[in-house]
Amino acid sequence: MIIKSKPSVLSSEITSESAYLNRRQFLKRTGQYALMAAAGSVLAGCTDADEKVIQTDASAIPAPGSPDWKQLLIDQRKPGPFATDEAQTPWADVTNYCNFYEFGTAKTDPAKNAGSLITDPWSVTISGEVEKPGTYNLEDILKPHALEDRIYRLRCVEAWSMVVPWVGFSLGDLLKRFNPTSRAKYVEFTTLHDPEQMPGQRSRLGSLPWPYKEGLRIDEAMHPLTVLAVGLYGKVLPNQNGAPIRLVVPWKYGFKSIKSIVGIRLLEEQPRTTWNQMAPHEYGFYANVNPDVSHPRWSQASERRLPSSLWNPERIDTRMFNGYAEEVAPLYKGMNLKMYF
Ligand code: MTE
Repeated sequence: MIIKSKPSVLSSEITSESAYLNRRQFLKRTGQYALMAAAGSVLAGCTDADEKVIQTDASAIPAPGSPDWKQLLIDQRKPGPFATDEAQTPWADVTNYCNFYEFGTAKTDPAKNAGSLITDPWSVTISGEVEKPGTYNLEDILKPHALEDRIYRLRCVEAWSMVVPWVGFSLGDLLKRFNPTSRAKYVEFTTLHDPEQMPGQRSRLGSLPWPYKEGLRIDEAMHPLTVLAVGLYGKVLPNQNGAPIRLVVPWKYGFKSIKSIVGIRLLEEQPRTTWNQMAPHEYGFYANVNPDVSHPRWSQASERRLPSSLWNPERIDTRMFNGYAEEVAPLYKGMNLKMYF
């Protein structure tokens, strides 16, 4: 399906907010763990991935549903690599200016509506080209991983950006636990699909095809910059930011960083992904931040760093790979990044 969109204003006049509105219109048109640390010796290496559902050792880990088990785990975090020293976007902006279409298309909708999402208990299904597929409780997904602060730039395709202190762990370390086969060339991620909890999935008009899906090439997924985040500013990830577990790929446009993940599938073929499926000429599979490749309806040469206002627009130049070129440019050696945008 080819969807053509004519620009209504010059790209130079478009602020990130109008870019966002364009997206909405487009949609309308297309109709544990102080306790766990103490129990570390018991739990270390306990990645019992052979079982379909791993049972948690109830004596060692606070029961799912206990309010603070995730916070206790986050409290054990260590400083992580790749931290930027740029000013961090305040908590209020990070948690109130969100894209999470399952809870509405306005930036403030997710903060207003995502309270209905039940994030504990939670499980993630690992499937496809792995030797140890199965459905795992979130506790067992997190158990062997030491959490780290990952202070990253986040650049939305709508030309706004933030600096976010995530708390998470390397996706690659998780994937390795399930022994990917030699045929695993891509990784597909799926968000929860539950219209009862997610009002945006009940909407008949202006909606995305649910569930929201994203994908990475296996080398991108294994890259040490790529993390699964469970926290923000040293606190449990708020629902509106993708609780209880989300992807963060800092050198790609924000739409790749899929929220509230329930499925991780390893594949031989490139998976179909939500925004790429909706408008392949606007949202590429790779979606690497690139100031030289404009969105068909606006320039990507600069961005508005939040918080910003009319008087202090905080407009800054966009950097290749969102400033992570040194780390990730080798992944794309010899590739035409204008063609594979
Ligand atoms: N994941 C899901 N499931 N649904 C979404 O609508 N929006 C994406 C991404 N992940 C989205 C999603 C977009 S467009 C961006 S920019 C980031 O989440 C925003 O993350 P934030 O709201 O935590 O800043």
